[in-house]
Amino acid sequence: PRRIGVLSPIRTARRPDSRDRLRSCSTIKQQHIPHIMAIHIKTPEEIAGLRIAGRLASELLDYLTPFVKPGITTGELDKLAYDYTVNVQKCIPACLGYQPEGMTPYPATTCISINHVVCHGIPGEKKLKHGDIVNIDVTSIKDGFHGDTSRMFVVGKPTIAGKRLCDLAFKTMWAGIEAVRPGGTFNDIGIACQAFADKNGISVVRDYGGHGIGRGFHEEPHVHHFPINHPTPKFVPGMVFTIEPMVNAGRYGVTMLGDGWTVVTRDRSLSAQWEHMVLVTETGYDILTCSAGTPEPPDFVKGWKKPEGL
Ligand code: MF3
Ligand code: CO
Ligand code: CO
Repeated sequence: PRRIGVLSPIRTARRPDSRDRLRSCSTIKQQHIPHIMAIHIKTPEEIAGLRIAGRLASELLDYLTPFVKPGITTGELDKLAYDYTVNVQKCIPACLGYQPEGMTPYPATTCISINHVVCHGIPGEKKLKHGDIVNIDVTSIKDGFHGDTSRMFVVGKPTIAGKRLCDLAFKTMWAGIEAVRPGGTFNDIGIACQAFADKNGISVVRDYGGHGIGRGFHEEPHVHHFPINHPTPKFVPGMVFTIEPMVNAGRYGVTMLGDGWTVVTRDRSLSAQWEHMVLVTETGYDILTCSAGTPEPPDFVKGWKKPEGL
């Protein structure tokens, strides 16, 4: 996921008073301001390249799946992911060394986010244990094109609450995907995700969203998973972007740990997320992050069937 944009502080001409000094953040979040953006419409050749990169990223998750067991460390999973990406798939791990402005370089191939970790969990010594819910998010570059996808895993013996949140996160993503059709707007995704979350008593993270993707990792637009009060762009065939709602069992607030990457729920409630890359077609949408291990969509999905013979 991508952090919502932050614009330069808007300063007033008056002398700062003590309340200004106490205010922790004088910036205005871009979610409140209409975007000025250029969304790249992909050519058929670019779409073909993105489909290959998307399948490779999805196949990397397929490869990792049998290793997601109690006792393995997230660092060991990351090493498996690096070796498979580089040596077997001949891809570049996009996250390794990735450095958005104002951040330290990301130190791993994967993001592995356990339980109350919302996203960007850094792999390390931590061992998976029974009942953990784990997001593994991978991004690979093939021939210059990015493939970005993530899934949830329940480790060993599931808990009721953990399994339920993983299922609801999956359905929240699909509710957003089903809102994609030419003529609609990006706000439709947020409306659909939020409505599904509301119905099920879970919250949608607001500080991170999906993103356009192509030769760039994080392209325009920012994809909100909740409704915003400003005009959003229309879907146009050839647009490619991710839908990757993070949903929390508790409140939507998040906070970043001291490592500068790991995002956790403020209330330490469980968080879950799935991610696909979506192409706008002439009649609806297609999924570009698809492989043998991609789970079938939920029953309410009418717009897409998993291709046979993957
Ligand atoms: N894959 C994440 C996304 O969905 C981005 C991870 S950036 C990293 O957008 F640097 F943390 F790896
Ligand atoms: Co993404
Ligand atoms: Co991702």
